[in-house]
Amino acid sequence: MRQIRPTTALIDLDAVVFNWQQLTALVGPRCPVIAAVKGDAYGHGAVAVARALQTAGARHFGVALVEEGASLREGGVTGLVLCMGGVGRHGADVAVEAGLTPVVYDVGDAERLDAAARQRGTRLPVHLKVDTGMGRLGVPLPDWTRFLDRIAHLRHLDVEGLMTHFAESENPDTTFTLEQARRFQTAVASARRRGVHPRILHVCNSGAILTQPILRLDAVRAGIALYGLAPAEWLSGRLPLRPAMRVESQVLFVRDLPAGASVSYNRRFVTKRPSRIATLPVGYADGWPRALSNRGEVLIGGRRCPVVGTVCMDLCMVDVTEVQSPVETGDPVVLLGEMGQERLDANEIAQAAGTIPYEILCGFSERVPRRHGLGQ
Ligand SMILES: Cc1ncc(COP(=O)(O)O)c(C=O)c1O
Repeated sequence: MRQIRPTTALIDLDAVVFNWQQLTALVGPRCPVIAAVKGDAYGHGAVAVARALQTAGARHFGVALVEEGASLREGGVTGLVLCMGGVGRHGADVAVEAGLTPVVYDVGDAERLDAAARQRGTRLPVHLKVDTGMGRLGVPLPDWTRFLDRIAHLRHLDVEGLMTHFAESENPDTTFTLEQARRFQTAVASARRRGVHPRILHVCNSGAILTQPILRLDAVRAGIALYGLAPAEWLSGRLPLRPAMRVESQVLFVRDLPAGASVSYNRRFVTKRPSRIATLPVGYADGWPRALSNRGEVLIGGRRCPVVGTVCMDLCMVDVTEVQSPVETGDPVVLLGEMGQERLDANEIAQAAGTIPYEILCGFSERVPRRHGLGQ
């Protein structure tokens, strides 16, 4: 159906390509940047993003799910698609069929992948994952050598890579990141002693790419930086990055309220003065967090306008009293991005909502159409 409601996410694919080029230049030609396009490319549209990167020369992509990898292949994405979440109990056949490169941390998964590869008469490249302190996915370090021994006979698996994931690489205190790196080197050494010689060692996410040059190894995995954001505010000057998502809408309705009038559910905002209040066609069903109630801001008429009252499912209200020319229905609104001299970025919105920019970007729901373009 054609779009009727004006709330839209504009995705600047040029910006994603620019960010990828910046990262590639930073890490150097011998260290491919694995573009993390999981979570629908952090809300930017995985196939569109991966294809734009592919056209620019990218050959390495990372997804979380087998389904995400398969849909990249259907969308014409070639090259390495690293399935970072593993394949689980039911994903081995699809992963092999789609030519994905699974991350393996479980003996059962390894056996199922080996069987699926054997059935198709191929040898499947896999990356093993060791847990050095993230406590999420990966073979726990104490089990590492036993794990290697248990998968050693699986002749249809080619251990191409070895990886781990950092828990807090964006933390200015690097103690734990460096400890994780040390544990990783221990795991690599014990793999080599067992005759396992992976060609690609990779540990860095955006935070570590920006702060730990010596840990860039044979490849890096970049997510948030690819979309134009540093993983923490203090890292934002490290590399020129361009935010790739802009979210726009238009004023749906405006009214003038006297002092003492309440706005939205549970009357959590009461006007202190005669106020002009605009209703916007965006709410928490669109991924505009309810936590922004009485906390967030939007841009209208080139000014910051505070969100007033509770954010509803489909709507929210903003105070436009201070905007110079009276705000009317249909006036443009920026929820994320620039207008005139003002800019709202995902970090700022995340701070107001008590979350991280990743969740803001991923959070814009399917109800907000993505419009992909170049150089918006
Ligand atoms: C295994 C893995 N590698 C890399 C990334 C990319 O992280 P970031 O977006 O911080 O660069 C992620 C995302 O969380 C991940 O799960």
